[in-house]
Amino acid sequence: MQNSLDLFNKTFQNKKVLVTGDSGFKGSWLCIWLKELGAEVYGYSLPALTKKDNFVTTDLQNKIHHQDGDIRDLDKLSNYFNEVKPDIAFHLAAQPLVIESYNNPHYNFETNLMGTVNFFEAVRNCPTVKVAINVTTDKCYQNNEWLWGYRENDAMGGDDPYSASKGCSELITNSYIKSFFTKENTCHVATGRAGNVIGGGDWAENRIIPDIIRAFQNNETSQIRNFNSVRPWQFVLEPVFGYMKLAEQLFHNGKSFSGGWNFGPSSYENYTVGDVVNEVKKIIPTLKIESPFVTEKLHEAGLLKLDITKAVNQLGWKPRLNFEETIKFTIDGYIEEFSILNNIYDCRVKQIKSYCNK
Ligand SMILES: NC(=O)c1ccc[n+]([C@@H]2O[C@H](COP(=O)([O-])OP(=O)(O)OC[C@H]3O[C@@H](n4cnc5c(N)ncnc54)[C@H](O)[C@@H]3O)[C@@H](O)[C@H]2O)c1
Repeated sequence: MQNSLDLFNKTFQNKKVLVTGDSGFKGSWLCIWLKELGAEVYGYSLPALTKKDNFVTTDLQNKIHHQDGDIRDLDKLSNYFNEVKPDIAFHLAAQPLVIESYNNPHYNFETNLMGTVNFFEAVRNCPTVKVAINVTTDKCYQNNEWLWGYRENDAMGGDDPYSASKGCSELITNSYIKSFFTKENTCHVATGRAGNVIGGGDWAENRIIPDIIRAFQNNETSQIRNFNSVRPWQFVLEPVFGYMKLAEQLFHNGKSFSGGWNFGPSSYENYTVGDVVNEVKKIIPTLKIESPFVTEKLHEAGLLKLDITKAVNQLGWKPRLNFEETIKFTIDGYIEEFSILNNIYDCRVKQIKSYCNK
C-alpha cells in the first residue's frame, strides 16, 4: 500500500539502513522517516547530549536499533557493520559546529577526517552495503564570497577548522570512490552538501534558532551575530529528502550518481540572519533580540550560496518549502515540544506527512 510519506517507491521498505549520528539533529529526523517507510533502522553514535534532543524526546532509542559508539573507534564501528549487514549506510556522525572547531581543532579533525575514513573502511569491509552516503556541508567549498552559487565541481577548501575538515571529508570520499569503489559490483558512494539546516529538536549551542528559542524560554534577550549574513536556510526535511533521493538513485541506477550533490534553497531564496529573526518574530512576537555592534571575531563566511541545478535535474529533488514555510515548520516543531501532552515522535511524523504533501 502506498504510504503518504513514501516519495521513494518503496526503496527503503524492509531494507537494513545504518545511520551514523542517529542521536543528532539531522540523523534522528532521517531515522524517523526511514522507520516510517518500513526500513529496519540501525544507529551508531555518541549518546544524545541533552534531554531536549530530538533523539530523546521522540524516544527513538526504543524505536530503532542503536549502538553507542565513537566514530573514531574503527574496530567497534566495523564490528557493528558486520553484525548488522546493512544494505544502505548514511554517515552523519561528526563534529558539526564552526565555533567548537576553533575551541578544539584536534578533536574536530580527528572526528571529521578519521571518522570519514573509518566509515568507508567499515563500508569497504562489509560486502552487503550497496549504497553509502557521506553528509558534509556547503562549507566544504573554497569560499570566495561569490555572488553566485557553488557548483559540485568547484574547488574544495575551508579556512576555519570545521570547514577545512569537511572539505577534507569530501576529498577522502572521492579517494575511496576512485580507489576502492570503481567496479559496478562494489558499493555506490556519494556525498550530500547542504547549508544551514533548521528544524524542531535541534538544541545545539551557537546555532541561531536554538539560541533564540532558549533565550525565549528563559525570558532573556538573544544576542544575534552577523545580522546581514546570507545563509542557505533549509528546513531539516529538505536535505534529508535529498540524501534519501540520492540513496534511491544510487540503489537503482548505480555509479552514474556517485560524487558530490548540493542540496540548498532555490537561487531566489536569499535570506539573511536578520530576515530569519523577523520571520520568527511574526510567529513569536514577544521575542527579545539584540544585535551586538561588534560581530564575531572568528572567521565565518559572509556569503555562501549553493547551485542546486544538478540535484533538481538529475535526482528529481527540489526544495518543497519557501522561506516563510521553512521558518513556520521550524518554529512549529519547537512549539510542539513546549507541551508535555504532545507525543513528539507523532508530531515529527505529522510534519513529515505535511512536508510530503507540499
Ligand atoms: N545542522 C546543520 O545546519 C548542518 C549543515 C550542514 C551540514 N551538517 C552536517 O550534518 C551532519 C549532522 O549534523 P547535525 O546538525 O545533526 O549535528 P548534531 O550535533 O546534532 O549531531 C551529530 C551526531 O554525530 C554524533 N557524533 C559526534 N561526534 C561523534 C563521535 N566522535 N563518535 C560518534 N558519533 C559522534 C553525535 O553523537 C550526533 O549523533 C554533520 O556531518 C554536520 O557537519 C549540518
